[in-house]
Formats: sequence, C-alpha cells, structure tokens
Amino acid sequence: MTKERDTNDAPEPDGHAAAARCPVDRHLFPTAEEKQYPLPPSFVDGKVYTDPDQYAREYEKIFMQSWFPVCPSWDVQSPRDLVVWDRLRQSVVITRMDDGRIAAWHNVCQHRGARLVKESGQCKAGKVKCPWHGFAYNLAGEVTNVPLRESFDEATLTNLRATPIRAVEWSGFVWINFSNDAPSLQEYLGDLWGEIGHYRMDGFQTRYRTTVELHANWKVVVDAFNETWHVPFTHQETLAGLMLWRDAKIHVCPPHSWMTLPVAGFTERMKDKADHHGANVCHYLAFPNTIFSCFPTHLQMWTIWPVSAEETIIDAWGIVGPVPAGMSEEAWAKQNERDWAHFLKVVGENSTIINSLGTVAHSKGFGRLMFNTAESRLTAFHEEVKSRIS
Ligand code: FES
Repeated sequence: MTKERDTNDAPEPDGHAAAARCPVDRHLFPTAEEKQYPLPPSFVDGKVYTDPDQYAREYEKIFMQSWFPVCPSWDVQSPRDLVVWDRLRQSVVITRMDDGRIAAWHNVCQHRGARLVKESGQCKAGKVKCPWHGFAYNLAGEVTNVPLRESFDEATLTNLRATPIRAVEWSGFVWINFSNDAPSLQEYLGDLWGEIGHYRMDGFQTRYRTTVELHANWKVVVDAFNETWHVPFTHQETLAGLMLWRDAKIHVCPPHSWMTLPVAGFTERMKDKADHHGANVCHYLAFPNTIFSCFPTHLQMWTIWPVSAEETIIDAWGIVGPVPAGMSEEAWAKQNERDWAHFLKVVGENSTIINSLGTVAHSKGFGRLMFNTAESRLTAFHEEVKSRIS
C-alpha cells in the first residue's frame, strides 16, 4: 500500500541521490569512528531573536569586542586609497598611508563631532579637512591643522587625533576590532588561522560583491548558513544535486566552527583523501558574523551585520584564485561568472526563508525552538553568544 505523502515529509533528497549515483569513495567521508555531528540536540528560546535587551548586550559584548573583516585589501591597494565603512552604527575610515601601512580611525571630528569623510575614494591631498570648521587630519587620523588655534586651550590640542581602531591585514582583507583589550587576530581565530590561511587569499582577487538587506535578527542569518540539511528543501534547484549534504562533517572550535562538505562529481575524483581543503567545500564561521565557503580555487565570503534587533545586512564577496592549470583565462572568467550567479541564487533562496521567519518571530507560537545533531554548529554558536552576554 502506498503511504500518503505528508506535506512535512522531505522531498526526494537529490543531493544524496546524486551521491548514490556517483562512484563515491566513502573513505573521504566521516567514518563510524569519527563524530560527524559533535553535539547533542538542544533548545533555544525564540526570544533570543527578538529581545531588544539581548540585542543591546550582543552589540556591546560581542560586536564591540570581536574581530571581523570590513573590506578587501584590494580597496586600499595604493597609497592614499581610503575606505569609509558604515556598519554597526559606526563609521570607520580605513586608509593606506604613504609608507604602505594601513590605519583605521573613527570618522568623527575631535572638535564637535562632524563626520569627517563622506565616502570611499582616493585622497590625493593625503589629508582630510573637516567640512564644518576646517580641522585637518593626516591619513593616520592625526590632527595636523587647527584654524584659529590660539582660541583653543593649547593643551587640548596636543597629540589630538581621531580615535584609532585596531586594524590588521590578513588573508586579503582588512580586519578591525573596536576593543583594545581583545586578543590578537591570530589568537582570536585559533584553529581558523591555519584553516583559512591555507587558501592564501592574499593572492586571490575580490571580483564580485553584493549587499543584501534582511528583515530578521542577525542570528537567524548566521543559523541559516551553518547547517546543510535544509539543502534538499530550500535549495532543490541550486545545491541539492551538487552538495553531498548528508556527508558534511562538523567541527566545533569555540568560538568558531566549520564543516567539510563533499561535492558531487568532484570530491570522488580527488586522489589525496587526507587533504580536506582540496577535496571538499570547507565552510567556516569566524565568530560572530563572518562566513567563508571555500572551494580549492575560489571562495565566497560574507559578513552579517545587525542593524537592529530585527534588521540585518549581509555584505558578500566573490574571491577568485589564479587561473587553474589547464584552463584558459577566458574559460576561468566564464566559470567565475557562473559561480557567482549561482551563489547569488543560493543567497536569494536563504533570504526568502529568513525573511519569512521575520514575519512570524512575534507570534505566540514562536516559542521554544530546537536544534538537532546535524545543527551542532548552531548549538555551539548559541552557547557562545549566551556565554558572552551573560
Ligand atoms: S566639527 Fe570638525 S572642525 Fe568643527
């Protein structure tokens, strides 16, 4: 007798069907001895996605204390290049100084708080003048000229500068941290330093970029990108036949996490079974908000920025490595175009789900929510958030 299909039943899991069709070498995937999903099931109160008090604590204790990338080094490649970064209710100026070093400082005049720099570009003069009363700043953010200087108390002008921000160039991006007490970027990233560093992204090019606005809490967005078992439901058209989602293997290295994700038609051809970078998509979350989806030859990276408790922005980049051996430049360019278009479609599919969740987040039915073992990265992420804001 044929079982009537429940509307909640999973559709035919195309990704797994593709895996079954391929002569996949199971040695590449987690064995019984390896723990594929490291954490037990867990629960979270739905209020974590809507509570304004929690959001305020996350802003201060997480976003004002963590490292994150804000722009590709490419954007400040030449001396006097300047980027204005407006996220997290902050405005930051990032500059390439004449000696090749970068500097980052708050985009706020020390006189009466005017916005110093309107937008990104080339600062040919090598100095910035406040549009209100003309205080001048060099590219390090130091005040170099004060009109009517004699009318101020000279002591208040000594060593005056725009408030500096810690900034480091690593893996082709400028990373910043608003806290002077946070550990170094390398210490902060821990295992991810070597994992992501493996790709040598500083030799890649940032060819594509986009920004997406979403109507949901930032953690909904992080959650949506950090588990794979939604693939056969949400991404039937884009990923289900491509990503062998059942064979994802999760690693938790607090505060971060990552997973290896085999790819149909690719992973099984790789000779070096031990090379997880070369044989899989490696997918990383650098806590709290930066995600890398790394293929051996190119990757997508995106940062997730809260705007309010229930509004979020994603900034995403398509980052491309050198032309692979045996491929023409033209063929590589075409493949990159296709990959980026594919990525945008995947983001669009996730955005639809994320925005739909935003429409019910205040429902009385939006209460206790659960994560299964395949959502171990979500459990680890929410535990980390909770521990930091407690
Ligand atoms: S606010 Fe900048 S010079 Fe007055």
